[in-house]
Amino acid sequence: MPPTPLDDIKSMFASISPTYDRLNAWFSLGLDRSWRQEIRKALPFRGGEILDCCTGTGELALLLASKGYHVTGIDVCEPMLAQARKKVPQGTPLEFVEADVYKLPFPDRSFHAVTNAFSLRNLFNLRQVFRETHRVLAPSGVALFLDLTRPKRWLRPFHQLYLQRFIPFIGGLVSGNRKAYAYLAHSILSFHSKEEIRDLLLEGSFRHVEIRPLSSGIATLWMAVK
Ligand SMILES: C[S@@+](CC[C@H](N)C(=O)[O-])C[C@H]1O[C@@H](n2cnc3c(N)ncnc32)[C@H](O)[C@@H]1O
Repeated sequence: MPPTPLDDIKSMFASISPTYDRLNAWFSLGLDRSWRQEIRKALPFRGGEILDCCTGTGELALLLASKGYHVTGIDVCEPMLAQARKKVPQGTPLEFVEADVYKLPFPDRSFHAVTNAFSLRNLFNLRQVFRETHRVLAPSGVALFLDLTRPKRWLRPFHQLYLQRFIPFIGGLVSGNRKAYAYLAHSILSFHSKEEIRDLLLEGSFRHVEIRPLSSGIATLWMAVK
């Protein structure tokens, strides 16, 4: 059978999993952490069940579990989950499950919130992802999506140079997979606009969607209410 886009995504993340956290922090100049904190601050309740989709090395899942939420992190890439599992202190209310965001293995209305950070660009059927997210959310639950986006106009020339030259060069040197970091640049520059994502969420039956640009629009947080 020929490899599917999902097989390609899995093997790309498997190859960069050992250096993923380090390179993320370097390339975002540490901002990735503060952007994940924005998700935590946007949660309208304390405690409760959270599903962190495409959890990767578990940074967001760990952050939320450390604040008293019970978190389930899912991802299709086992080597990314292996990195995540290494970081969990004993007794943390957190589990990691190998699962696909297109077919979530949970009953309807199981979670108070669903989070998803830096992954929308890798998902080729967002309508299906948003339908599944909506399905597993409790009534009035919130879905929080964070991703890298195109910044304000004045920043774009520098942003483009940084993404297309600097990141593939350093990413290739450190991870040994230059293609993965060239793909990162391409996926950001060719991604939907902030408003298109909002419209897809509304199409997916969410009642209300708020768009919050972060750091002059280098990243964006979408908050969608069921
Ligand atoms: C850029 S990483 C983001 C990791 C993490 N959320 C973070 O904040 O750093 C994207 C993750 O999405 C996962 N992924 C891609 N397609 C997926 C799918 N269909 N179902 C579940 N996870 C998926 C990849 O394996 C990868 O770990």
